[in-house]
Amino acid sequence: TATIEVDVSSLAEGMSLTVKWRGRPVFVRNRTTKEVEAANATALKELKDPIARNANLADDQPATDLARSAGEGKENWIVMIGVCTHLGCVPLGQAGDFGGWFCPCHGSHYDTAGRVRKGPAPENLPIPTFEFVSETTVRIG
Ligand code: FES
Repeated sequence: TATIEVDVSSLAEGMSLTVKWRGRPVFVRNRTTKEVEAANATALKELKDPIARNANLADDQPATDLARSAGEGKENWIVMIGVCTHLGCVPLGQAGDFGGWFCPCHGSHYDTAGRVRKGPAPENLPIPTFEFVSETTVRIG
């Protein structure tokens, strides 16, 4: 179906899960405070792709950590399509030089906000349309 509901009640801080949506993996991560802080400490000018790539926001929204997260009050949550923007491999979590995700195919490094920081990937990992429909349920699509 086009829309799925994901139970995230089992995700303690620092845990993530991967679900399949429209044939693609979607990563849902309950980020640690440290991970959020690391992303917030990064100046936008250091980003290779300064656009949020968040389907829930305007197309030109800058890639701040807040704009990459589930938003105000849910900054710890990040929901992203787990397909490398280079040639489509699935990046590995909690890996790479920036502690976020690492694509082993050609070495693209994404930070804790899923923003590409190094390697051939041209764009940040895309954020699908989603919303928290309860404290523990995310609807994707
Ligand atoms: Fe990820 Fe090439 S597909 S770096």
